This record gives sequence, C-alpha cells and structure tokens, in this order.
Amino acid sequence: MELEELYQEVILDHSRRPRNFGEMPDAGVLVHGDNPACGDEIHLAVKFNANGGLEDIKFSGRGCAISQASASLMTMKLKGKSRAEVMEMVRAFHDLVTADTSEAPNNLGDLRVMQGVRKFPQRVKCAMLAWRALQQAFEQGSGEGTVSTEPV
Ligand code: FES
Repeated sequence: MELEELYQEVILDHSRRPRNFGEMPDAGVLVHGDNPACGDEIHLAVKFNANGGLEDIKFSGRGCAISQASASLMTMKLKGKSRAEVMEMVRAFHDLVTADTSEAPNNLGDLRVMQGVRKFPQRVKCAMLAWRALQQAFEQGSGEGTVSTEPV
C-alpha cells in the first residue's frame, strides 16, 4: 500500500469513528471553535489536573474529514500530557501542516498523517480548528469561551 493511501485510510478511519468524541459533564473548560470559511464547528471539553496538565479531553461538533480526524488524533495524542508538552505539540503540529520543511518530527506519531494538508493551504484551518480550541482552553483556564480559526 502506498504511504499516501495509508495516510488517507487513517484520516478516514478517525473521521468516521472519532475517538474521545462526546460530552464531558464535569469539564473544567468548554471552548466552542468555528471555522468561518465553512461554518463548521467544534466543541472542546477539557479537564485539567492539579498541575495544569491535560487530565481529560473530549470533543463534539461537525466538520469535514480533516477537521474531525485532526481533533480525534489530537485528543489521543495529548490526553495526560503536561501543559508544556501540549504547547510544544501545538507548535510542532502547526509547523507540520504549514511549514515548508521536509521531515515531520517523530514525536508527533500518528499526527504525521496530517502532513499532506500543507499542500492545500485552504485546508490548514480545518486541520487547526481543534488545536486553536485547545490553545484557547489553556489560555482561558476555566469556564466557557469561543475561538475562531481566524487568524491561523
Ligand atoms: Fe469546514 Fe474543513 S471544511 S472545517
């Protein structure tokens, strides 16, 4: 199987059966993110641990395969990570889908399937939607808020 086909398979799998999808009644932070270019939205629920790390994370909403797969992969990768690790991963993922560098960092694991997005600049907002919501959740710290993919 070609690598590109494998990547597409992973993205389709996560968009059809998103992991960590649903509500979180005891969430500490809720962020409603939207992509104004298409009207798609994500609702991100986060619970922080005593050290400010990511104890639990879930999402709901609707969007294209890229946005759903990106959110699903993000929650799997980041659950249980410290604040510093999350921030580093957000930066690395943004580079992955935007930068014109050759190699994707190994620490991104399965998230590297999103690298193909960089060839389609209009899809970067799709890939970043969940990540912008997560950044906002950390900035907020508690309560309910909103964020938009503008500007990425
Ligand atoms: Fe709306 Fe991708 S087309 S998030």
